Amino acid sequence: EAVDFGLDAPFDVEYHDALPSTNDRARELAADGASDVVVLADRQTGGRGRRGREWSSPSGGVWMSLVLRPDVPPARVPLVTLAAAVAVTDAAREAGVDAAIKWPNDCIVPREGAERGGDKLAGVLTEMEGEASRVSWVVVGVGVNANVEPEELAGDATSVRAEAGDVERRAFVQRFLERFHELREDPDAVLDAWRDRAATLGQRVRVETADGDVVGDAVDVTEHGALVVETEDGRTVVHAGDCQHLRPA
Ligand code: BTN
Repeated sequence: EAVDFGLDAPFDVEYHDALPSTNDRARELAADGASDVVVLADRQTGGRGRRGREWSSPSGGVWMSLVLRPDVPPARVPLVTLAAAVAVTDAAREAGVDAAIKWPNDCIVPREGAERGGDKLAGVLTEMEGEASRVSWVVVGVGVNANVEPEELAGDATSVRAEAGDVERRAFVQRFLERFHELREDPDAVLDAWRDRAATLGQRVRVETADGDVVGDAVDVTEHGALVVETEDGRTVVHAGDCQHLRPA
């Protein structure tokens, strides 16, 4: 069942042609005590996005989930998500795509004047279990629109194929895993790398939350992954979990 994808990375690899969701399979492995495993599938039949949205996952994309057991309190987990966003952006840039990070953890190709700031290339869905003092496990799901047509995807999406031509998926995943591994050994580097690749910082934004819109200049991200917005009434911190949509304003 566990096929070796030929990756030379500090993770065990489990490869599937099709799964409902690699995050669901990773959660099962995590509950069984696994760690440092990456689950990959060529396609997903029930891919999940943030906030309960569906995630189109046709054959040819990179749909993967990492099982991790970091020895940290839950408040540090957003750094893991930021690290994944940096690593996927770097792998995309190496594949020739002009990628940037859109807070909280989207990888986009920025477009002048686009309603959402650009077209989505990749997204990260982190799930965890644990107690207030320490997490038990973290599953980091990463979806990359690699060798797929944008028409196969939902919403304002693009793909590596559309931007730069097909990428060798094994090399892409290898690069992602190496970069992610580097960053998890060096949490101090994560925020700097994230800021450096962020399309959102320095932008005037509108963040939609359940409590209303926050409008102002996005000036920074906190070590807990929250966005600092300079509004007319002063600085506001918006947590990733509260963001429904973010648009340039
Ligand atoms: C988002 O931007 O909403 C996050 C999308 C995350 C999609 C990936 S694909 C691999 C993993 N399995 C899932 O069901 N979701 C994540």
